[in-house]
Amino acid sequence: MQQTLILLKPDAVQRRLVGEITGRFERKGLRLAGLKLVQAPRALAEQHYAVHKGKPFYDSLLAFLTSGPTVAMVWEGREAVAVCRTLMGLTDGAKAPPGTIRGDLALSVQNNLVHGSDSPENAALEVALWFPEGLVSVAGVDA
Ligand code: CMP
Repeated sequence: MQQTLILLKPDAVQRRLVGEITGRFERKGLRLAGLKLVQAPRALAEQHYAVHKGKPFYDSLLAFLTSGPTVAMVWEGREAVAVCRTLMGLTDGAKAPPGTIRGDLALSVQNNLVHGSDSPENAALEVALWFPEGLVSVAGVDA
């Protein structure tokens, strides 16, 4: 069983798309293992996007992620990392195929509604970063 960190970024909250996007992960059959609304401090955003430091869009990306509340979620299930990335679609909303979250709902490359971990290893790091308090045990909830 795999876990992945999903962020519904400030544009998703501002555009009232939290239910629409969360429903897609739920309907796929993934299990919700963590959920909270976070006003990300700058330090958290810096840690989360450390790999992008030095890129031309880095400062703008940090300003975006800290611009309003983010919904942080942990989803688990078989191949959860890859399954969530498939559901999200390509990073650039303009290039993401129809049927995906970004393909259906985003046009921007930066304001692309969702973030999903790109590997099980990074998922573990990102879950620990966004949920330092740990997760409620949901083992056995839906067998
Ligand atoms: P995410 O999947 O969270 O990973 C890194 C984020 O950086 C990405 O989604 C976008 O929000 C943003 N991003 C990636 N490439 C660009 C780009 N070329 N210009 C602006 N923002 C970008």
